[in-house]
Amino acid sequence: MEVNVDMDIERLLVLEIARVTEQAALAASRLAGMGDKEAVDAAGTEAMRQVLSELPIRGRVVIGEGEMDEAPMLYIGEVLGRGGPEVDIAVDPVEGTNITAKGLPNAITVIAISEKGGLVGAPDMYMQKLVVGPPAAGKVSLDYPVEANLRIIADALQRKVEDLVVVILDRPRHERLIKEVRQAGARVKLIADGDVVAAVAVAVRGTGVHAMMGSGGAPEGVLAAAALKCMGGEIQGRFLPENEEQRQRLRAMGVDENRIYRTNDLAPGQQIVFSATGITHGELLEGVRYFGGGARTHSIVMGYKTRVVRFIDSIHLFESGARVNIRV
Ligand code: FBP
Repeated sequence: MEVNVDMDIERLLVLEIARVTEQAALAASRLAGMGDKEAVDAAGTEAMRQVLSELPIRGRVVIGEGEMDEAPMLYIGEVLGRGGPEVDIAVDPVEGTNITAKGLPNAITVIAISEKGGLVGAPDMYMQKLVVGPPAAGKVSLDYPVEANLRIIADALQRKVEDLVVVILDRPRHERLIKEVRQAGARVKLIADGDVVAAVAVAVRGTGVHAMMGSGGAPEGVLAAAALKCMGGEIQGRFLPENEEQRQRLRAMGVDENRIYRTNDLAPGQQIVFSATGITHGELLEGVRYFGGGARTHSIVMGYKTRVVRFIDSIHLFESGARVNIRV
């Protein structure tokens, strides 16, 4: 194919990208509940890399499985694709390796692609996060006390603080935050893992969650920012280096650890495509469901410039000529 570098990346990839996460979810879900998180991660990573290598792009991994010397595939800096426009790729082939290995809900596979420079290559460290949906976007601040943010979110959603549910990763480091949210009157939904899908769910009405607070992985923050930018929600993040080495990495990147990074700072791209497919069942996405001869997947796929959010319900037939009664 003749490739034009100025070509519209979103139109080129918006449907292809679903195949990337679908295949990764199919591969990882085969091992769901089998108790081996490394095997889950390897299966998802290999499948994702295979599909990415077939895409008409020249893509560079900016968020991936780790540095080149620690990850055999989808490492930071790996170049993928069969040639085409230069793009940046952020992936988490299995977001929730533990929960997949245990067969618990809310594991997904996720990717974001943008034009070169459109996604910040956040290093593997913690980030303090605050996520809200479109009604409260631009109104909250990581610098405000928890109670003040909850009042702002409640006002934006035209409800009482008591009617809010805040998602928080269930970690000892969040003990004080959980107490503050509860004292303010909001309810807390503790999750075992997987703060990307939780952040996306906050921006989707009907999921029953209205904000996400607490610290999680910084790379996951960038993936969430890509989705929230497409949906008009907001993430605010502050890098939380834990030692001098991490501080040095931030300095080398020109990152100020005291600054609040907003959605647009984390995902500055003007062309962004995002896709997530459920591995195990969740509030936002169904997990992979197998039937004799095939499987069904559920994905959310979006584009920033194209302003489309698609829920894709796919049926994959494994044997050619298989007779399958498809159910609605
Ligand atoms: P992995 O599946 O890559 O292990 O990440 C799961 C996750 O829960 C993320 O969603 C979250 O950002 C991060 O781990 C939180 O880190 P920690 O488990 O150290 O609190």
